[in-house]
Amino acid sequence: MYSFNNWRFQYTALHRQRDCYLARRRTMTAMPTRSDVMETLKGVIDPELGSDLVDLGMIQDVRVDDDGVVTIDLALTIAECPMRNQIESDTVRKVGSLPGVTRVDVRTTAMTKQQRADLMTTARFRVRERAEPTKLSPTTRVIAVSSGKGGVGKSSASTNLALATAARGYRVGLLDADIWGFSIPRMLNIKERITANEDRNLVPVEAFGLKVVSTGLIVESEETALMWRGLMLSKALEQFLKQVEWGDLDYLFIDMPPGTGDVQMALTRLLPQAEMVVVTTPQQAAQKVAIRVADMARRSFMPVVAALENMSHFVCDHGQTYELFGSGGGAELADMLNVPLIGSIPIDPLMVAGGDTGLPVVVHAPDSPSARAFREATERLLEIVPPAQDETCTGRIAKLLEALPVTSHSE
Ligand SMILES: Nc1ncnc2c1ncn2[C@@H]1O[C@H](COP(=O)(O)OP(=O)(O)OP(=O)(O)O)[C@@H](O)[C@H]1O
Ligand SMILES: [Mg+2]
Repeated sequence: MYSFNNWRFQYTALHRQRDCYLARRRTMTAMPTRSDVMETLKGVIDPELGSDLVDLGMIQDVRVDDDGVVTIDLALTIAECPMRNQIESDTVRKVGSLPGVTRVDVRTTAMTKQQRADLMTTARFRVRERAEPTKLSPTTRVIAVSSGKGGVGKSSASTNLALATAARGYRVGLLDADIWGFSIPRMLNIKERITANEDRNLVPVEAFGLKVVSTGLIVESEETALMWRGLMLSKALEQFLKQVEWGDLDYLFIDMPPGTGDVQMALTRLLPQAEMVVVTTPQQAAQKVAIRVADMARRSFMPVVAALENMSHFVCDHGQTYELFGSGGGAELADMLNVPLIGSIPIDPLMVAGGDTGLPVVVHAPDSPSARAFREATERLLEIVPPAQDETCTGRIAKLLEALPVTSHSE
């Protein structure tokens, strides 16, 4: 029999235990430093000026409080900047993905005339300095699909997410960054080979409305074979980003190779705006590996924006659901990373067949449970990473130029 005091003792003990646990969790998640935040802000690009917020001098101050609240003073070029919402939401999303951050407050001010003049000088200098930028437009959203473990469905997911995004009317590219273990050509049943244009740049193959590049699509002439064999993985990726005529894309999906390493680091260097979706199966083991990738992403300041569970459950013809590979891994991963779980893709025999014969479910079996789940996941992903604004900003640039002191016009 419990007396009231006994009950109260237990109640207090439970609370104490919970507080200890929370305190331990807080200390286990080291707070990001100011320079971590600055590094992350280098991934927020002002698409109009083609450089990042830090480089352009738009970050006036960054403060990280003990409770994980990050306050950023952001100077916009002009108060009524049309890019304001986008710059603010990109900032909140990316800085918010750093471990330990509980809230991001962005305080905006308008630049002074002198600050605007400095910014324009930097922007012009960058344009000149970057003689060899990637051929990707600064307005292209880059989504890397990763996982720590092989075979969890990265290639299937990147293909179907890309197709569902294209079906929404966006211009979409799919880059197979699995340089030697490529599977995209098979998944889309592409028989053509990449060609070069008169500027000796590579032209992606068009398949199902996607612009696709993969090592598997490179013509196997002796010359190209030698060229590719001699390249490091990161160099190959560099070529794919610098020598491919991607054109104006709204989204580029990147099918990452299994594990972590070279390719991920190269991607961060080449495309600081890249964001990551981590794919996991419901199994605990897969989820632990995915955590490793996410940690790596964070160390290289590539924000993880969403988790996607694949091979979640199996629905038989009678409507009965079976959780063949366990359950809860996706939700747990999302929770630990503090990102939304954008979907749970069921196990679908059509996906195995589709993957092998080049009939992706989103296109060839649009009413299948897996295709429906991919479309829903895509909707959520596009809400999290909306297309970059490309409204005409000529007015803004004109105002910026107007503000330039006469001396800084001379080059
Ligand atoms: N939801 C699913 N239901 C049934 N089969 C699936 C599902 N997702 C993927 N598969 C199958 O599992 C296999 C592995 O998938 P996929 O190649 O997409 O994984 P991956 O993570 O890219 O692998 P790798 O690490 O080798 O690149 C493929 O045969 C694919 O067709
Ligand atoms: Mg793959």
